[in-house]
Amino acid sequence: MYDKSKIFAGLAVFVVVMTYPFWNNIGSAAYVRPELEKPKNSQACVENVELMRTEHMSMLNEWRDEVVRDGVHEYHSKTSNQVFQKSLTKTCMKCHENKDKFCDKCHNTVAVDPYCWDCHVDPKGVQK
Ligand code: HEC
Ligand code: HEC
Ligand code: HEC
Repeated sequence: MYDKSKIFAGLAVFVVVMTYPFWNNIGSAAYVRPELEKPKNSQACVENVELMRTEHMSMLNEWRDEVVRDGVHEYHSKTSNQVFQKSLTKTCMKCHENKDKFCDKCHNTVAVDPYCWDCHVDPKGVQK
C-alpha cells in the first residue's frame, strides 16, 4: 500500500528544494547585479552607493535640467563635502572610464538602453 500523505510530503519537500534559489531571492535584490568594473582612480561616488544605485537616473535628469534651464553647474554632495560639476561626460564618465564594463554591463542585465549617447560623448569610446 502507498501512503499518500508521505508521497505528498515528499513531493512538497522536493518542490521547495528545487525552487529554493527563487524564493530565496524574493525581497533581497530587485535585480541581479553583474560584476562591475569599479573606478580605479577614486574611492567614492558622488553620493553613497545605495543612493546611486536607485537614484542615478533621476539625478542625471535633474542635472540636465538645472544646467540647461537654470545654468547651475555645481552639485553639492549630500553625503560628502565634495562639489561636482553637473556633467555626464566630464563627471560620471571621468571616474567611470569603462562604460562597457560599468554602465552598459549593468543596463544590459535590466534591459535598459539610455539614448544619451546619441548626443553625449563617451570619452573612452572616442579614442577607439
Ligand atoms: C569621483 C569619482 C566618481 C564620480 C564623479 C562618479 N562616480 Fe559613480 N562610483 C564611483 C565609485 C568609486 C563607485 C564604487 C563605490 C563603492 O563601491 O563603494 C561608484 C559607484 C556607482 C554606482 C553603483 C555601482 C554598484 O556597485 O551598484 C553607480 C550606479 C554609479 N556610481 C553611477 C554614477 C553616475 C551616474 C555618475 C554621474 C552622475 C557617477 N557615478 C559619478 C566613482 C565616481
Ligand atoms: C548597478 C546597476 C547600474 C549601473 C552600474 C548603472 N546603471 Fe543606469 N540604470 C540602472 C537601472 C536599473 C536603470 C533603470 C531604472 C528604471 O527604469 O527605473 C538605469 C537607468 C539609467 C538611465 C535612465 C534611462 C532611461 O531610459 O530611463 C540613465 C540615463 C542611466 N541609467 C545612466 C547611467 C550611467 C551614465 C551609468 C554609468 C556611469 C549607469 N547608468 C550605471 C542600473 C545601473
Ligand atoms: C538630442 C541630443 C541629446 C540627447 C539624446 C541627450 N542629451 Fe543631454 N544634453 C544635450 C545638450 C545639447 C546639452 C547641453 C550641453 C551643454 O550645455 O553643455 C545637454 C546637457 C546635459 C547635461 C548637463 C551638461 C553635461 O555636460 O552633461 C546632462 C547631465 C545631460 N544632458 C544628461 C543627459 C542624459 C542622462 C541623457 C539620456 C537620458 C541625455 N542627456 C540625452 C543633448 C542631448
